[in-house]
Amino acid sequence: MAFPSTRPRRLRRSAAVRRLVGETHLEPRSLVLPLFVRQGGREPVPISSMPGVVQHSRSSARAAVSAAAELGLGGVMLFGIPERKDATGTQALDPEGILNAAIGDAVAEVGDALVIMSDLCLDEFTDHGHCGVLDARGDVDNDATLELYAQMGVAQAAAGVHMVGPSGMMDGQVGAIRSALDDAGHPGVAILAYSAKYASAFYGPFREAVGSALQGDRRGYQQDHANGREATREALLDVAEGADIVMVKPALGYLDVVRQLRDAVDVPVAAYNVSGEYAMVAAAGANGWLDRQLAIMEILTGIRRAGADIVLTYWALEAARLLSGRMPT
Ligand code: PBG
Repeated sequence: MAFPSTRPRRLRRSAAVRRLVGETHLEPRSLVLPLFVRQGGREPVPISSMPGVVQHSRSSARAAVSAAAELGLGGVMLFGIPERKDATGTQALDPEGILNAAIGDAVAEVGDALVIMSDLCLDEFTDHGHCGVLDARGDVDNDATLELYAQMGVAQAAAGVHMVGPSGMMDGQVGAIRSALDDAGHPGVAILAYSAKYASAFYGPFREAVGSALQGDRRGYQQDHANGREATREALLDVAEGADIVMVKPALGYLDVVRQLRDAVDVPVAAYNVSGEYAMVAAAGANGWLDRQLAIMEILTGIRRAGADIVLTYWALEAARLLSGRMPT
């Protein structure tokens, strides 16, 4: 019997060898923590479909931002939950509005030690829950929405944000926001563009998290999950319009798209490991159906291996603690 002389298993023999030859590095600096901040909240409010994630009060959000900096995360992505919503999302533009206030708090807390990012979209602020304003037929009016995004970007920049994250999938949003930021004297504020954002069932828990009023769906502006090629088209357009980073969302059903964008552009690529992906692991873990911590590390490493330089994940703090050995694996 001829035994094999080529033995890939030699490089898997011990934890030390595996560590030596591991191709993909997962580090806290690559992780970004999304945070929900609720107007008027005194205490953090648990989100039932995302066990372990809360709607923060302004003061608990500050503490989370400080923990993120202490653990060496790459950044935080802020979402605001206003008390009042209306048809055009006016609270998004108000300098005292919850998202702009939360940006100011975060910057006051950590300065430049952590990248402070903000969601730039109207869905948390509109009473109909769509990502833009509606026309007479009830459709999202692309170009009227761009004007509001431009103003929203300037308001966020004035509040001190380092990087804005346009997530509404309006055509031309990156260019409109870039020129508004430049005209208003904020050329240093970067744009993390949600370039390939798919209409997804996996945003379900997020809708609870931000108290979304949406009836219907976003298929008229978010991408169809059958399509890969248009992700590259969207990303190249965004880069041409001035995007500094492009993002794919959700992550797990779209790892091919992450790889495709990594190969197509020369800016950093981010992936958003979304609420439903978090909830699945939380539910299975709570039932003892899988090992939650191992699943988290496998998922985050897999997203990085697919080509994401940056991963937005609700597990960012926990993963950073696991990586720094502050929690048993
Ligand atoms: C839109 C936005 C959504 C998410 C992030 N930004 C919701 C949507 O497009 O329906 C989802 C994030 C998640 O599910 O974790 N502002």
